[in-house]
Amino acid sequence: MQHAFDLKDITKHFGAVKALNGVTLHSDEGKVFALLGPNGAGKTTIVRILSTLLEPSSGSALVHGLDVVKKPKEVREIIGLAGQYAAVDEFQTGFENIYMVGLLYGLKRADARKRSHELIERLGLSKAADRQVKTYSGGMRRRLDLGASLVGQPKILFLDEPTTGLDPGSRQSIWQIVHELIDQGTSILLTTQYLEEADELADTIAVVDEGKVIAEGTSDQLKSRLGGDTIEFQLESIKDLSSAEEVVKSVAKSSPDFNQDTLVMRIPVHNGSKDLMVLVEKLNRAKLNVNALSLHRPSLDDVFLALTGNRTQSQESEQPKNKKRMKR
Ligand SMILES: Nc1ncnc2c1ncn2[C@@H]1O[C@H](COP(=O)(O)OP(=O)(O)O)[C@@H](O)[C@H]1O
Ligand SMILES: [Mg+2]
Repeated sequence: MQHAFDLKDITKHFGAVKALNGVTLHSDEGKVFALLGPNGAGKTTIVRILSTLLEPSSGSALVHGLDVVKKPKEVREIIGLAGQYAAVDEFQTGFENIYMVGLLYGLKRADARKRSHELIERLGLSKAADRQVKTYSGGMRRRLDLGASLVGQPKILFLDEPTTGLDPGSRQSIWQIVHELIDQGTSILLTTQYLEEADELADTIAVVDEGKVIAEGTSDQLKSRLGGDTIEFQLESIKDLSSAEEVVKSVAKSSPDFNQDTLVMRIPVHNGSKDLMVLVEKLNRAKLNVNALSLHRPSLDDVFLALTGNRTQSQESEQPKNKKRMKR
């Protein structure tokens, strides 16, 4: 089977900045591959190299077997690219934006119109189609940008942080569109700062940090490396310890950790939400009262802690822009 993309020992230097330091990765056709990493990790640089916007300093990059440096035109014909900063024209309507892209792709007017209507419908933007984009929300812009990347019916789609900074509802609607594309067999390379997003969409995840791949695998493989989900609760009394230990046995995948001072018990589990329900039921049956029962899933912070042993500084500045603004 042909690889959707194939990177061999790619480096990219911008003057003194080493953005990529020998990245080797590939993905099969029809699969979803996620690059997970904090700001400045090199994700966008990888996407820009694969989409012919940037030449690597060394190494080889193929898209569907085509060399991105030697055959950029052929590569551009089979790819779609949607970015973190939606490249849409504010003063045109949603419909006009997609229609223009259709014309740029060389579609006849009637075909461009038909294709635009189809895509607008599929993106759930029908009602807003004739409004100027400047009236759109962030989520709507992102959907429109995604629509524009689909006009050329790409074999492989690059999604650079498709949901960074979006509210949960808008994120869900992007995910839904991506799921439909996956079902249709489109190969996808997406970048994200959220483990949850990689988990939801990707077959394989590569964790990238400082221009290097520091881990690669399925979501389950990465999570088990990270220790996976844990359930936490606090006992009301130390006297309950032995009965609590008995109750948690059936859900714990390895021995729980208990803090004598805080009375907090941490239980590693296989399937957080399912095990949480089972545990609640058992605690009730055993008439055990506990406080602050909660489920913890590995976050991107946990990934980096586990993989690098320190918290990368750049993550501090990684908050989605609008979140930061809200805080001020
Ligand atoms: N055009 C450029 N000139 C100089 N440095 C750049 C350029 N593009 C990216 N970089 C640097 O390369 C590194 C990787 O950036 P990028 O690929 O955008 O990371 P990410 O998308 O993971 O946030 C960063 O240190 C960034 O500052
Ligand atoms: Mg980026």
